[in-house]
Amino acid sequence: MPEAPDFLPKSSLYPVQKTNRASVNPLFGAQFLSSLPFSKHRSGVKILAVPPNNTMGVTVGKTMQQLVAEQLKQKPDSVFVFPTGNTPLSGYQALRDMGKQGEKLDWSQSKVFHLDEYVPPQSGMPQQLESYATYMKRELLDHIGAEAFLVKDYLRDPSAYDAAIFRQAPDGPDMVILGIGKNGHIAFNEPGSDAKSQTRIVDLTDATVKQNFGEFGVNTVQEAKQQGFPTQAMTLGMETILKAKTIVLLATGEASKGDVLRKALDPDSPPHPSIPASYLKNHPNVYVVTDFTV
Ligand code: GLP
Repeated sequence: MPEAPDFLPKSSLYPVQKTNRASVNPLFGAQFLSSLPFSKHRSGVKILAVPPNNTMGVTVGKTMQQLVAEQLKQKPDSVFVFPTGNTPLSGYQALRDMGKQGEKLDWSQSKVFHLDEYVPPQSGMPQQLESYATYMKRELLDHIGAEAFLVKDYLRDPSAYDAAIFRQAPDGPDMVILGIGKNGHIAFNEPGSDAKSQTRIVDLTDATVKQNFGEFGVNTVQEAKQQGFPTQAMTLGMETILKAKTIVLLATGEASKGDVLRKALDPDSPPHPSIPASYLKNHPNVYVVTDFTV
């Protein structure tokens, strides 16, 4: 068995139940997966458990970096969909640092889409808020040389964004990375979204306004309207997300996210629109990277 990379716990220190190799992404060879703290959840998803408090330098983001790097090495023309938010920041940093540390990944054949965007995308108004396009460029796109597709360029016709994805990846994106909202949203598929929902413009909920703009003192849709913050967003639909060959869900942070993740993965409840993340149980190849106990 190969040595685990430094940032990952040695399996003897962090014992996990091994899963059936036949059910995992064939791109992630047994050798690669045996270096990760990998187990099968009763819901069917695969859990990559990061020790709480990020001990031993292990982080959700660094595990994301490992999965992305492996995907790209195995399939250089991979079509990715990436998220924004705080959760993936350390993953993007780790991907950028690979370039600096001489292990440069070759992104030249890959295509990168992102999950969602405010409507209208904010570029300086209000000044504190940046568009997701700005975030994606700063954190990843400006550093890697991949062909990039930005949601903001498709706001007039959201279905054209799906069409662009399926032109690049007729069978669905190779890898979609997701965060999770405290209300169980995926991208901006808010509670109530159908599993067949299409890429579209949605109204934000109070819960999401509070989660995303609370740091600016904006806690409700009404306050967002009054203060010029966006109250709508464009989101990749659940249907497109669920067509991905591999889905990676990143979950870390406040305890309420752990609560909603546990509900989403409850093997005894069928997927339900009240928690869009629960649809992931119906997908055959989901990795949940988390430091919550699930
Ligand atoms: C936003 C985004 C989601 C993201 C979520 C979690 O609402 N629309 O795509 O996954 O927030 O963000 P964070 O990682 O900052 O908790």
